[in-house]
Amino acid sequence: MTLTFEIEPNAAPMAAAERDTLLADPGFGRVFTDHMAIVRYTEGQGWHSARIKARAPLSTDPASAVLHYAQEIFEGLKAYRLPDGGIGLFRPSANARRLQDSARRMAMPELPEEIFLESVRALVRTDRDWVPTIADGALYLRPFMIASEVFLGVKPSAEYIYAVIASSVGSYWKGEVKAITLWASKTYTRAAPGGTGAAKCGGNYAASLVALAEANRQGCEQVVFLDAVERRWVEELGGMNVFFVFDDGRLRTPPLGGTILPGVTRDSLIQLARHQGLIVEEAPYSIEEWQADVESGRLVEAFACGTAAVVTPIGRVKGDGIDFAVGSGGPGQLTERLRQQLTDIQFGRAPDPHGWMERVV
Ligand code: COI
Repeated sequence: MTLTFEIEPNAAPMAAAERDTLLADPGFGRVFTDHMAIVRYTEGQGWHSARIKARAPLSTDPASAVLHYAQEIFEGLKAYRLPDGGIGLFRPSANARRLQDSARRMAMPELPEEIFLESVRALVRTDRDWVPTIADGALYLRPFMIASEVFLGVKPSAEYIYAVIASSVGSYWKGEVKAITLWASKTYTRAAPGGTGAAKCGGNYAASLVALAEANRQGCEQVVFLDAVERRWVEELGGMNVFFVFDDGRLRTPPLGGTILPGVTRDSLIQLARHQGLIVEEAPYSIEEWQADVESGRLVEAFACGTAAVVTPIGRVKGDGIDFAVGSGGPGQLTERLRQQLTDIQFGRAPDPHGWMERVV
């Protein structure tokens, strides 16, 4: 099933000179384009009223379900400037399917894949001038869905708004971050078995903020969450998956299974690594093993990954009674190689053997 997006151009788009100034150094998540995509859902009628329109505040009734019971899900994907000036999306179908998975977990209607794809294609084409040309810059797309029924009873909403906004971005990190320091939280957990850990819902991120604040107070950029049952198995960071690299060249990443977000970057790196003959284990790894393997020299690199953070080296881990440097404390060799290989495909600098890129302009 698909819908045609009616295009209502922004009557007062930003002047080109002003836009170009912003695009020269956009940071992350603060520079927004002229338009947004929006689609509505009504029980009984399904998906309807698909439009690309001027980006503007949403007007929501103060009794809208999302404001009270947090029925909200989102996605993150990027559009990249290609060497010939065109624009490519990276694995948009993977995000479409994950949004459907998140919707099922949050008792929300599944957005048909074709509508998702059309929404991002139409928005990128309309706002094509907002895709940065700076090194490592991209147009970060943020599809999201909120429950908009005006009702205070606790039940799945009968109405929803699906929208996509776009933000011109550079690096996710402020300043020159070579490697991040993690705080291993013993106080807070992110997700429990049977909970919403595998869904990309705003509530997971809300629950992570106090732990992130604790990490920041300890001088760390990010929190690393341990499992909720035994409090020892490394799960993920506040919004990124994690990988470990051993001295024999093997990689390991915590297994999916309900408490970890199935990252598109995570999956892409697993495929990239396996494609070149590397062994990647999706297996549990405890914070104690991590520390012991660092001390014995068996663990040589670790990195975080996600659409926003791409591939970011982990240089140090701290916590209650924990303080160790990972490898050299800076970017490791395999981490750098995988980051380069992934971004070369995304920016169209290398062949795309997995068929991940979709050209939209
Ligand atoms: C992403 O990497 O796209 C994320 O969603 C992580 C964070 C910015 C929320």
